[in-house]
Amino acid sequence: MIDLTVLLKRESSVPLYSQLYHYIKKEILSGKLAAETRLPSIRSLSNHLHISRNTVDLAYQQLLAEGYVQSRPRSGLYINDLELESLPSSQFIRNKWLDSGVKSNSAIRYDFRYGDVDAEHFPLATWRKLSNQSLHQNEQSLFSYGDPLGEPQLRLEIAHYLHSSRGVNCSPDQIMVGAGIQYLIGVLSGLLGDVSNGIAMENPGYDGVRTIFEHKGINIHSIPLESDGLNIHKLYESKSRIVYITPSHQFPYGMVMPLSKRMQLLKWAADQNGIIIEDDYDSEFRYVGKPIPSLQSLDTHDRTVYLGTFSKCLLPSLRIAYMVLPQTLLDFHSKQDYRLYDQTVSRFHQKTLELFMKNGHWEAHIRKMRNVYRQKQFTLISLIQKMMGSQVTIIGQDAGLHILLRIHNGMDEDQLIATAEEEGVKVYPVSPFWAQRAQADKSMVQIGFGGLSNEDIIEGVNCLHCAWFG
Ligand SMILES: Cc1ncc(COP(=O)(O)O)c(C=O)c1O
Repeated sequence: MIDLTVLLKRESSVPLYSQLYHYIKKEILSGKLAAETRLPSIRSLSNHLHISRNTVDLAYQQLLAEGYVQSRPRSGLYINDLELESLPSSQFIRNKWLDSGVKSNSAIRYDFRYGDVDAEHFPLATWRKLSNQSLHQNEQSLFSYGDPLGEPQLRLEIAHYLHSSRGVNCSPDQIMVGAGIQYLIGVLSGLLGDVSNGIAMENPGYDGVRTIFEHKGINIHSIPLESDGLNIHKLYESKSRIVYITPSHQFPYGMVMPLSKRMQLLKWAADQNGIIIEDDYDSEFRYVGKPIPSLQSLDTHDRTVYLGTFSKCLLPSLRIAYMVLPQTLLDFHSKQDYRLYDQTVSRFHQKTLELFMKNGHWEAHIRKMRNVYRQKQFTLISLIQKMMGSQVTIIGQDAGLHILLRIHNGMDEDQLIATAEEEGVKVYPVSPFWAQRAQADKSMVQIGFGGLSNEDIIEGVNCLHCAWFG
């Protein structure tokens, strides 16, 4: 049975029963109320609309008399199949709407979207088991609001993991869990105190975070990159005391900031009484060389905010990320009543993740996924090199789940994307990552490989070759 929510005008000269009758008739004729749909009972509709039963009864009688509905004994009134072929049924409208999303992309066979992850190796059975376990073990204790900063046991697991994998020094008290890095950056923006000197960011840099700062009305200083990452000299010149940065895998260029530059950046923060916001979004996937310790782990002045996410190694749909706050911001957090911000991640998902980490599945999963992605990246890079050789330049292949590809065929970004699409392949623009799109290097595209199988990567690269050099 459906509910009918109709705005009846009590002051109108048209009687209420007639308004209701016309409304239902219109819904039937437009196909929004499909054949075989049962109308609400007289009692429930009169309660729902706060009108008398008599009014509903009169409207229903008229619909019956005109053959729009039929009465079934002891069951109620059902909409007749009027065989209105020219009119779309609600099912038809629904299907059409669903199709339109799919159809616009139906010609795309290989989607190199950055952000998609490998679905095949997600440990669904384990996750399901732990999910059930967390429901059964905790039953009603998880039914209420949880700790605003996140479940303490999960924060403990995250603290252990960050210490062993990235050298991060923190207690679970410093960790805030939240539904994604963007959300946490939004919260952080309110904790930073005086931002009148703006926030510095790599240019090009992650547009997802730039947008949050812009929406908060914060002035952004765009700092150019050098071959080893942010230009520190320009950072000093900007006079900003806060910088957002992706040092372990610059987004989108992919360079890894060497230790010497990390030390310079930490010195800058100490000199300026500054704050470094370190986004370590995909540090699990490093394919070349030794991992370099996080800035947070090298920081002896407590000037670094460290952010990480489960979107890359686990699933983006989980919406679980975390932020490690230095003591100064943590104190501000308590003083400013930030504890009144309720936790945004479901307690059930947090509990499941805690068990996943505690029982050793997380470490095993990272090891497995590192190999899976290493293999995919190898497939992608070696084939591009073999097929396209010196006609392209591959950028950012030491880590992560995407590369940039500069194509030396004279096409600009739009043409590269459009010609790829004609061959059934989706690749993505890089220009949105620049503060001013006009400044962007337009001979490149972004290629994410996480969500495609090795076979699809091979097919996709073949199609790209046809599109650009065919
Ligand atoms: C640099 C960077 N930071 C953060 C994120 C997103 O993290 P989350 O899914 O936790 O919001 C991404 C996602 O693509 C990213 O590229």
